[in-house]
Amino acid sequence: MKEGYFSKKIISWYHEYHRDLPWRNTQDAYKIWLSEIILQQTRVAQGLPYYEKFILNFSNVKSLANAKERDVLRLWQGLGYYTRARNLHKCAQEVVRNFDGKFPKTFGELKQLPGIGDYTAAAIASFAFNEPVAVVDGNVYRVLSRVFGIDKNIASPEGKIFFSKLANQLISKDEPALHNQAVMEFGALDCLPQNPHCEDCIFQKTCVAFQQDLQLILPVKIKQQKVTKRYFYYFFVRNGKKILMTERTGKGIWKGLYDFPLHEEKRPVRPEKIIGKYFPLDGNEKGSQISEEYKHVLSHQIIHARFIQIDWPSAKELPPSLIHLNARWYSLNQMEKLPKPVLITRYLGDHSIL
Ligand code: ADE
Repeated sequence: MKEGYFSKKIISWYHEYHRDLPWRNTQDAYKIWLSEIILQQTRVAQGLPYYEKFILNFSNVKSLANAKERDVLRLWQGLGYYTRARNLHKCAQEVVRNFDGKFPKTFGELKQLPGIGDYTAAAIASFAFNEPVAVVDGNVYRVLSRVFGIDKNIASPEGKIFFSKLANQLISKDEPALHNQAVMEFGALDCLPQNPHCEDCIFQKTCVAFQQDLQLILPVKIKQQKVTKRYFYYFFVRNGKKILMTERTGKGIWKGLYDFPLHEEKRPVRPEKIIGKYFPLDGNEKGSQISEEYKHVLSHQIIHARFIQIDWPSAKELPPSLIHLNARWYSLNQMEKLPKPVLITRYLGDHSIL
């Protein structure tokens, strides 16, 4: 695609088809900022009455800054995520306090204000002050990934950087406001997530997704599930040839399998601290041995396990804390037959127990 083609084409489409929305007929940074904050929370149709209400009650940034927080929250009511409303109020106060009631004009300065991230800063800087900085929101990802056939993951930091660079290469230096509005509007009206209007699309000839039938594949969004770290401290309690085991019940991992009595922590701790909690050792035990750490990786969890081996004198009753864990004695033979997590068989194998 020739330089400038994308921008020219989408701007001329915008001239013909865009919706007439109140925040588009102004260069007032206050109104643009307010609309963008509301539109981060809801769709245009639902956001419109909120925008009108805010402008009616607070026609400029000073009146919003002087408002009581509860009145701002009252107007925001129904939009949800009230931190946004509090930040809206705080931002207005900062603009009044530090910028004499006038929004700063550059992307960099705007980003310093509460509740203003990359997207909102780019929207205000370009719509109100004509700074050629690209907005990148869900609509923009969709349009660019499809037209240019980019399968980078938009949920990854690399993907975000890639799209931001591309968007900033494409933006019209002469008409950045129109360009940004146009890409977003094209995504909102034509290049739809589910049923894009490809049949009469202005990019039909060049759109990679259309040519290769990838509209429903692009953009690629793979959210990395958060990986939880868990710290397991297992008691491997031996009484001659018998070993204490428990059946895992409840909702968590390994339901129905058998492992050793377990103490879990959110952070690593010294195993000695845990031994003291469960086993008030009185000197008749043969002491404890603590294994190296075993790392066991599951799809969304990493388990760091240590095994605390305790030789328990046969005559002695188990401490109540272990009885609560429903621990029972099993012979080696019986234990071999029980279903066990791989982590447990790894430990048993390493210590030549099975
Ligand atoms: N969604 C986010 N910003 C928008 C804008 N300026 N116009 C229409 N929809 C939007």
